[in-house]
Amino acid sequence: MIVKGGRLIDPASGRDALADIVIAGGRIEGIFPPGKAKGGGGETIDATGLWVLPGLIDMHAHLREPGQEYKEDIASGSAAAAAGGITTVVCMANTDPVNDNPTVTRSIIDRARAVGLARVLPAGAITMGLEGRRLAEMGLMKRSGIVAVSDDGRPVEDASVLRRALEYASTFGLPVILHSEDKSLAGKGVMNEGPLSARLGLPGIPAAAEEAMVCRDLAVARYAKTPVHITHVSTGGALAAIGACKETSLGMTCDVTPHHLLLTEEALSAYDTVFKVNPPLRTEKDRLALIEGIRNGTVDCIATDHAPHAADEKALDFDLAPFGVIGFQTLLPAIMKIHLEHDIPFMRLLACVTTNPARILGIEGGVLFEGARADLVLFDPKAVWTLTEDRVLSKSKNSPFLGWQFTGKVVRTLLEGRTVHVAD
Ligand code: DOR
Repeated sequence: MIVKGGRLIDPASGRDALADIVIAGGRIEGIFPPGKAKGGGGETIDATGLWVLPGLIDMHAHLREPGQEYKEDIASGSAAAAAGGITTVVCMANTDPVNDNPTVTRSIIDRARAVGLARVLPAGAITMGLEGRRLAEMGLMKRSGIVAVSDDGRPVEDASVLRRALEYASTFGLPVILHSEDKSLAGKGVMNEGPLSARLGLPGIPAAAEEAMVCRDLAVARYAKTPVHITHVSTGGALAAIGACKETSLGMTCDVTPHHLLLTEEALSAYDTVFKVNPPLRTEKDRLALIEGIRNGTVDCIATDHAPHAADEKALDFDLAPFGVIGFQTLLPAIMKIHLEHDIPFMRLLACVTTNPARILGIEGGVLFEGARADLVLFDPKAVWTLTEDRVLSKSKNSPFLGWQFTGKVVRTLLEGRTVHVAD
């Protein structure tokens, strides 16, 4: 197969140039100046006017299988990921049963392989049942294919359990992804705490709930001499704490979500539960601090925290509706929007969904080299489109961006040289 005439953008090599890409046996066989590639009679894809990017890596998502297939399953989630140009998905362990043992790990991997639309790499639980007490069998799960451990959805509340978890995970070389939330401060909050929550009469989650736990998590990580990855950072204060720690260098890393980059608490003004997420949407000041963090490199990754929930669950009262928004199909358009509105180089943003997550997870991918796996996205940077419910391939439609107009559209996604999505 030849992908001809596209603009190749590859953060790993810093390459940004028109090129032809020859693909054979699921790998990139060669990258040539435009018009110089010679094909052996395979398929030719005309990428003129398109950007050719490495397949994206989303290091934080919920695919809900096993156990909550009415929200999403591996087939629907993989199809939505492919439509978003995401070729590698790390799925969190808060399934039912929890992915705290090798049998669940194996079943997720087997199912994802059978579906074949995305590379699904599970995160195993840190503690059994995500209960924060006994450590899960990280070694056995690693042998079955987990790439990280996380109790995401919950913090590891007991600091001594966290310390032992970090030491244990490091013996297996497993990255630890932390959902940093002080539950005693978050209480029964449903949105950011501040003047707006007071006006709306909704219980708030203070920024301090995140900041206190991030500081504790970093302190325990320094004590255990192991790096941690803090996921879905939502406040300027939490990011500053991570930034300060980066200078002393144990390799602490973090990610932010597109919804925290594009939305603020103001979205909750009409009491729409679709915007109920954990951590909550914060203030404009926080949002701009996260964007600045991408510009200055404090933010390593952008991850969706794709969290499907059924319409009847989201239709419940504000206190009862579950936290979460979907995000696969809007990841790249969201990145484009940040690029255009905040003048952040596209290459830097792209590194946050390719080379950086690959480095943190220690996995192959996110690069366009000769010999690399042919995971590619063809992206039309000029296409203008509107997200409507019928375009959403996830089983659940709880996107905070329904009705938004985006510039930039995924046209085709290749997974190891196989087309797994073509836009209609
Ligand atoms: O909004 C969220 N949804 N935050 C989490 O931490 C968990 C996730 C979910 O699983 O629905």
